[in-house]
Amino acid sequence: MPKESLTVTDNRTGKQYELPIENGTIRTTDLRQIKVSPEDFGLMGYDPAFMNTASCKSKVTFIDGDKGILRYRGYPIEQLAEQSNFLEVAYLIVQGELPSKEQLEDWKYQITHHTIVHENIKKFMDGFHYDAHPMGMFTSTMAALSTFYTDAKNIFDKESRQIQIYRLIAKVPTIAAFAYRHTMGLPYAYPDNDLSYAGNFLNMLFKMTEPKYVPDPALERALDVLFILHADHEQNCSANAMRSVGSSQVDPYSALAAASAALYGPLHGGANEAVLRMLREIGSKDKIPAFIKEVKEGKGEKKLMGFGHRVYKNYDPRAKIIKKLADDVFEVTGKNPLLDIALELERIALEDDYFVKRKLYPNVDFYSGLIYQALRFPVEMFPVLFAIGRTAGWVAQWEEMLLDTEQKIARPRQVYLGYASRDYVPIVRR
Ligand code: CMC
Repeated sequence: MPKESLTVTDNRTGKQYELPIENGTIRTTDLRQIKVSPEDFGLMGYDPAFMNTASCKSKVTFIDGDKGILRYRGYPIEQLAEQSNFLEVAYLIVQGELPSKEQLEDWKYQITHHTIVHENIKKFMDGFHYDAHPMGMFTSTMAALSTFYTDAKNIFDKESRQIQIYRLIAKVPTIAAFAYRHTMGLPYAYPDNDLSYAGNFLNMLFKMTEPKYVPDPALERALDVLFILHADHEQNCSANAMRSVGSSQVDPYSALAAASAALYGPLHGGANEAVLRMLREIGSKDKIPAFIKEVKEGKGEKKLMGFGHRVYKNYDPRAKIIKKLADDVFEVTGKNPLLDIALELERIALEDDYFVKRKLYPNVDFYSGLIYQALRFPVEMFPVLFAIGRTAGWVAQWEEMLLDTEQKIARPRQVYLGYASRDYVPIVRR
């Protein structure tokens, strides 16, 4: 039997060390024994952007980036998108198993009955400028929620955690919809408990003077599937923010505000917004070759937004599902004129050596924006829609981190390259 260990020779001293291998990893703290002298701090790993460092053990989501596989708790994303619904998937992600009929009924009841937000939230929302970005409003309001639920500080109380999880999953669509209505100058619409999670969200967004909002079933289903596809994605930038900030033992609303801020960036959840802007900038199919040339010559400065991924070096499985979903939506809404540009852009890019060599494929954000736009969302709302689905993943990652006895406050090391020590010089002598 081969030994599950790694033997390292330190060529500075000639000493050998044996480091255990567990789950295909070595512990970088084991490197600390490798020293040139007793005063030496010991060897560290240097890994900016966590390119090859596992920060946790997790049982939530599995990705095989080379094969284009994504599974939540072992279930393939394709099966969940086809056969399940968002609330069931949220239960699966958070609780670890598919629910029984009774468990699902209770889960739905709890989430449905926590959708209303405190009236003061409306006043808070009103304070935002008329052109405030909805993701900025969403992020700040999530942080503000911690001031409404002071019991959320009891993070080691199972029951309290469960209530905050209900509240978070229930209230994110309400807050997202309020942000939208504020942007549009419309009165806020209250939740309707008779509707599904996605149906109620559409109600809070688009209800006008009709006594009861009736969502289009195809659009309701499309939105539900989009929530499923965005529900978790293992240790991405925002999940890492949720875990890292949560590791200080702050309440989950504050940690989720940090995760939401991370998602806002154009390299993460802000990419869907950037894709739409890019497609508009290109404007027509004949301009695509010139655009691709600019990207290639830009040496990373100008990117083909919605392409590439840190983990996927193959077609993002979510992009495949979304591409198909777009057809169902366009049947109801009419085709988004930018679709032809997107399809042609994908075709040209996938044949181009630059993209082929770097294994750059469409990611989840490439087509989702086209659907969101057809559903009448302004582009600024796109990252907020991402955040609604991802809340299930964030809370699951947060709880897993809290219950992991190996976790401590997240606190990376650094390689210090600044001055060693120097004496202060009074300003007159500088
Ligand atoms: N267009 C053109 N070139 C690209 C792109 C792109 N979209 N993505 C990567 N590259 C190039 C990059 O310049 C580099 O080239 P070189 O080796 O010559 O320096 C090479 O491909 C490797 O890229 P990287 O920047 O080292 O890869 P990364 O893992 O650090 O970045 C990424 C991953 C998603 C940030 C990046 O691909 C990107 O910026 N894509 C566009 C933004 C985007 O669509 N983001 C959404 C990600 S999926 C949803 C989510 O997680 O929120």
